[in-house]
Formats: sequence, structure tokens, C-alpha cells
Amino acid sequence: MDYLQPASAAQAAHTVRLQIPDKLSFQLVFRQERSQPLEVSPVSGVSFHFIDSLGVGLAQWSALKGLFGLAGALKALAKVQRGRVFYFVADGPQVLHTGWVSSSFCRFYRVEPGDVVIGPIWSAEASRSRGVGAYGTQMAINALLKKGVRVFFIDTANGNVPCLKMIGKCGFGAPVASYLRD
Ligand SMILES: CC(C)(COP(=O)(O)OP(=O)(O)OC[C@H]1O[C@@H](n2cnc3c(N)ncnc32)[C@H](O)[C@@H]1OP(=O)(O)O)[C@@H](O)C(=O)NCCC(=O)NCCS
Repeated sequence: MDYLQPASAAQAAHTVRLQIPDKLSFQLVFRQERSQPLEVSPVSGVSFHFIDSLGVGLAQWSALKGLFGLAGALKALAKVQRGRVFYFVADGPQVLHTGWVSSSFCRFYRVEPGDVVIGPIWSAEASRSRGVGAYGTQMAINALLKKGVRVFFIDTANGNVPCLKMIGKCGFGAPVASYLRD
């Protein structure tokens, strides 16, 4: 390619060398607008929990403490009190999947007031590829719809195949944007 050839003396002062890594990692951003609930892919023996208020968070105190420890659970409750939502999928006392939701704000791209951004999300290693990620995210979207949310964002790295597959099962279509994240 021309821009990789050595510049002549006359051009040298104006030449910019671009060095793009072979395996460039970037985030893909997905957006969907919906008013109807998603059809949820069931996973047997699990329960879904949606923490959108301090009261609900306190009722789930032992799950939060088990996940995050005492200080982390207090921080999680503080985040919920400031407006974030936390959800998880459990099999009895064992938490299999967790997710956070922010409203009206994203550090990396622009969202409108009332739009939500899902993430970070996580499934326990032993529970991956069992559908708990899709189940939890679908259930969270449906619970958010009931609260009046209509626009949903989620993003993940271009190489995160499990997450991309999971996103596809949650009503999102093609990515609408991408950005570099260090
Ligand atoms: C991304 C993540 C939450 C997905 O959770 P999960 O519970 O495994 O999700 P699901 O089982 O619903 O869906 C994963 C899909 O990817 C598929 N998959 C998993 N590994 C794969 C691989 N290496 N290649 C291709 N497909 C793969 C699974 O088979 C499943 O698809 P299927 O339902 O069609 O069989 C989980 O992998 C995770 O916690 N990863 C680490 C943290 C992370 O990357 N979080 C996302 C960024 S915020």
C-alpha cells in the first residue's frame, strides 16, 4: 500500500505512518428500540432477580454479600440507590449470571435520557454456554420494559464470540457503532 512505502525527500515532511495492529480489538455497540417483551428462552431450575431499589437490594443482601463481600455489597447497594439496576440469575444460593444496567449515561458513547446501557455482564465459568446469559439479559430487558424503558444499548469486544451470540438472542440486530477502548 502506498502509505507504507518510504517517502521521497520532498514528501517526507508531510508523511504520516499508520501502524494498525493485525488483531485490532474494538467494541461493537448494539441498540434496539422495543415495546413488546422478548420471548424468553427458559433455563430449568434457575430464578431471576432484579434489584432496582434499596429495599429490594436489602432483601437480597445475602446474595450480594456472597458475590461481592461486605464492602462490595455495600458499594453495590450505593450504586442501586444512585439509579443503577443490578440483576442476577441463581440456582438456589449459587449465582450463575450477573448484570448491571445504567440509565441515561454511557462513558463511551452518547445515549438519550431514559435509554439504558446493559453491562458489564458475567456468567460463572462453570455455567457458560448453558443459556443463562441470554435468559438473564432477556429477563432484564423485559423487566426494564415494564418500567417504561424503550431503548436498550449493549456493547462488547469484536472478538467476544459468546457475548456476540448472546446479544443476538436478546433482540439486537447489527451493531450501530464501534469504538476503541483501551
Ligand atoms: C459473555 C457471557 C456473559 C455469556 O454468558 P453465557 O451464559 O455463556 O451466555 P449464553 O449461554 O446465553 O450464550 C453464549 C453462546 O455463545 C456460544 N459460545 C460459547 N463459547 C463459544 C465459542 N468459543 N465459539 C462459538 N460460540 C461459543 C454458546 O454455545 C452460546 O450459544 P448457543 O446458545 O447458540 O449455544 C460469558 O461468556 C462471560 O461471562 N464471559 C466473560 C465476561 C464477558 O465477556 N462479559 C461480556 C462483556 S461485558
